[in-house]
Amino acid sequence: MSNRHWRKSQSEDFFVKDSKLRGYRSRSVYKLLEIDEKFKIFKHVKSLVDIGSTPGGWSEYARNKIRSGNLLALDINLMDPIEGVTFIQGSIEDKEIQDLIFEKNNGNKFDLLISDMSPNKTGNKVSDQFKFYNIADSILEFSQIGLISKGTLVMKVFIGHGFEEFKSELKENFERINYFKPKSSRKESREIYVIAKNIRV
Ligand SMILES: C[S@@+](CC[C@H](N)C(=O)[O-])C[C@H]1O[C@@H](n2cnc3c(N)ncnc32)[C@H](O)[C@@H]1O
Repeated sequence: MSNRHWRKSQSEDFFVKDSKLRGYRSRSVYKLLEIDEKFKIFKHVKSLVDIGSTPGGWSEYARNKIRSGNLLALDINLMDPIEGVTFIQGSIEDKEIQDLIFEKNNGNKFDLLISDMSPNKTGNKVSDQFKFYNIADSILEFSQIGLISKGTLVMKVFIGHGFEEFKSELKENFERINYFKPKSSRKESREIYVIAKNIRV
């Protein structure tokens, strides 16, 4: 799509307009809203980590859903503060950052991990996919040590190189897995969301 057409479709996009109108930090929030409506992911949740949180749309949504609980947000880029959300700047691939996440939850495991993580695009589809799935593997590994056994992992993945392999890894690690394409996710985007529940023991 040419830049001109992209800008046009952006400005005509209902979700872009509506998110500005409502003062949401991101258009992405609608995707989480749809996931939540369908899968009720915040039920009984008292602690969560939002991975790849900046600018903070998902974290704001989560804060509104969980009034009393421990909410952590992580991103390599800074996020403007949200009351009731503890922000950590760093990469989920970094072991020290993972330790810090636990520390901020008094060493306890989490009920829910949500990830809308995506690295900056380079323009080379293969290396973009490769980079994404390297980080995605770290998220999956973190979910295995960081989630309670009945916990839930919600994460964005991209169909293409590495997807089938990642699907198999998910199957090995979780008992229940759903794939969901929200209506607010652009049709031309290869993104899809995974809702994985119950760690296999
Ligand atoms: C699409 S944005 C997230 C939008 C967010 N869900 C919202 O509603 O505002 C993806 C984010 O993933 C972050 N990211 C990329 N690689 C990361 C990594 N290794 N660790 C943590 N965050 C990362 C990017 O910096 C970016 O802010």
